[in-house]
Amino acid sequence: MIISVLNQKGGVGKTTLSIHIASTIALAGYSVLLIDADVQRSALDWAATRDKEPLFNVVGIPSSNIHKEVKMLEPKYDYIIIDGPPRVYDVAKAVIAASDYVVIPVQPSPYDVWSAEEIVNLINEVKTTLAPYKKIDAGFVINRKIANSVIGRDVTEALSKYPFPVLEASIHQRVAFTETAAQGSSAIEEDPDSIAGKEIKALVEEILSKIISKTSTT
Ligand SMILES: Nc1ncnc2c1ncn2[C@@H]1O[C@H](COP(=O)(O)OP(=O)(O)OP(=O)(O)O)[C@@H](O)[C@H]1O
Ligand SMILES: [Mg+2]
Repeated sequence: MIISVLNQKGGVGKTTLSIHIASTIALAGYSVLLIDADVQRSALDWAATRDKEPLFNVVGIPSSNIHKEVKMLEPKYDYIIIDGPPRVYDVAKAVIAASDYVVIPVQPSPYDVWSAEEIVNLINEVKTTLAPYKKIDAGFVINRKIANSVIGRDVTEALSKYPFPVLEASIHQRVAFTETAAQGSSAIEEDPDSIAGKEIKALVEEILSKIISKTSTT
């Protein structure tokens, strides 16, 4: 099963969510590979700062051939998570082609709603091309939500004009996501019962339920 985290917009939380999704699935006992498809190598840098035993392997494939490489790696893992690059169009397209499910992080801001059009169009393009061969689904996740603000709700409403759903699970702005990254760890690994840990777990459960319902109807 291939889950990618993608948005052409920079700094929306692709790497943070990729690492947390990979950690959560690995902690549940599955074999996981995290692919860093970004030349910035953030996920690889994260793995390199880690002292503890790795929960999963991280490899860098910032290439427009990633879909072909993923095909060869897929049988070896229960789940492959791909941390997508911002901007690079041809790599993003190949990442979408490799995916069963694309998670699109968006921040609660009108700029993020407007710029999401680009990734939505790209996913639709690849989805249509590959429709005879495979089914690709996608969903938005609101990341860096600010507590006690209505902007998250406004953004959810604004995103409803796009053809992909907004996942019910959303992620708030929390220092635990950043601080744990500095040690090559994650909020769920450090404290699964923390609010950050529970938020990520709920997100992963929702993503996996979407994938399962998708595979059972095809
Ligand atoms: N929910 C969150 N709470 C607090 N900080 C966050 C959260 N999500 C992301 N961040 C912080 O926001 C910054 C950007 O996040 P991240 O690097 O994950 O985004 P990205 O989409 O991968 O960026 P790029 O497009 O450059 O690859 C980082 O400093 C990260 O620690
Ligand atoms: Mg990144």
